[in-house]
Amino acid sequence: MNLWIKNGHLLDPANQRDEICDLYIKDGKVARIGSLSSDTDVKECEKNGEVIDATGKYVMPGFLDLHVHLREPGFEYKETIESGTRAAAKGGFTGVCPMPNTKPPTDCPERVKKVLEIASRDSRIHVYPVGAVTIGQMGEEVADIEGMVKAGAKAISEDGKSVMNARIYHRAMEEAARLGIPVMAHCEDKNMVGKGAMNAGEKARELGIEGITNAVEDVIVARDILLAKETKARLHLCHCSTKDSVDMIQYAKENGVDVSGEVCPHHFSLTQDDIPGDDANYKMNPPLRASTDVERLCRGLSDGTMEAISTDHAPHSEEEKNQSIAKAPFGIVGSETAYALTVTNLVKKGYLTPMQLVERMSTNPHRILGVPGGNLSVGMPADITIADMDTSYTIDKHTFVSKGKNTPFHGMKVYGRVFYTLVAGEIVYQYEE
Ligand code: DOR
Ligand code: ZN
Ligand code: ZN
Repeated sequence: MNLWIKNGHLLDPANQRDEICDLYIKDGKVARIGSLSSDTDVKECEKNGEVIDATGKYVMPGFLDLHVHLREPGFEYKETIESGTRAAAKGGFTGVCPMPNTKPPTDCPERVKKVLEIASRDSRIHVYPVGAVTIGQMGEEVADIEGMVKAGAKAISEDGKSVMNARIYHRAMEEAARLGIPVMAHCEDKNMVGKGAMNAGEKARELGIEGITNAVEDVIVARDILLAKETKARLHLCHCSTKDSVDMIQYAKENGVDVSGEVCPHHFSLTQDDIPGDDANYKMNPPLRASTDVERLCRGLSDGTMEAISTDHAPHSEEEKNQSIAKAPFGIVGSETAYALTVTNLVKKGYLTPMQLVERMSTNPHRILGVPGGNLSVGMPADITIADMDTSYTIDKHTFVSKGKNTPFHGMKVYGRVFYTLVAGEIVYQYEE
């Protein structure tokens, strides 16, 4: 199918395009960009009804979520590759990186292949598997990283925890550096965290819940930066939540370490003071922090120290999340709210321009992962997100297509709606009232 995307506001940082124009999509690729209404191919599209009127909407390279949990295999009651990628498409994502903490974990070439096999059957967006760092995510033996990369893994991560043995992590980083893939680090000192379930502070004391201090994250961020410096690995720091994480990333970059950092919408949208009581929909790892941390995360995203926005989409069942904060599992869903939260809390508040939003959600994530996409140059696959930044509505978890309804954002008024998500010129999501 060919397609005329008509009169949209193209935002493409890679090509420095920020203008109203048309796109002509032919055979799944961007074929022409400009003022095309008199173009004969476009006239043909019009005749065939192959037109998207993007008037008043932004046309952007498709978003890539560097950090999701799709739960398959092993926890299909929480999410599947089918439901999770459908939720991502609804959120404007044309690609996702599923973390390996499934059951069994994605820790060998066969399991990477299995994820890709299910994805090729059940997903309409790109799925870029992330392999585990160690066998069984047990932290003891480095996994077959080369085999997993050959099978299609695009990165490694021990997400859900840190590799506490620095000697083992060092070895894995050397291997990742040799293979040219990023290491995505979940930074949490296992010995320090204890039974902590929310940020250490006034709120945790008030609720009588054990706290997680900033240093739980910061000591591992520091360690991992030093390991990356020594091994020359490309280090991507997941879900950064503290002010010192941002400062250390800035310092590391200034000193030539190949490091990038992501921030999740919940960490720049909420502080610990927004937790209304013992409600596990506010429980995630790392936890909601203090306002000084949130302010630094927003400024870090603004000045480019923090290059990516990713969701850490972590679906759980209602039963699991109906427990107390102390007992419930960590994690909230994020695929279907990320764009609107970014528009509402970063663009509308002046931290990001619309172009910078595209950099943080598309251009940079694609570059960090080293996969095609993130720009709409002529000849590129037409992976496209069409959305606005002005429609206002109230987030309603009952409309989520994810199996997970565990969100603290239910009932929040936001700006920005995704209208279309396209992969290789095919409409994989379309908003319907
Ligand atoms: O909140 C989180 N949920 N943080 C993690 O590190 C893991 C994730 C999950 O798998 O549920
Ligand atoms: Zn994590
Ligand atoms: Zn995660």
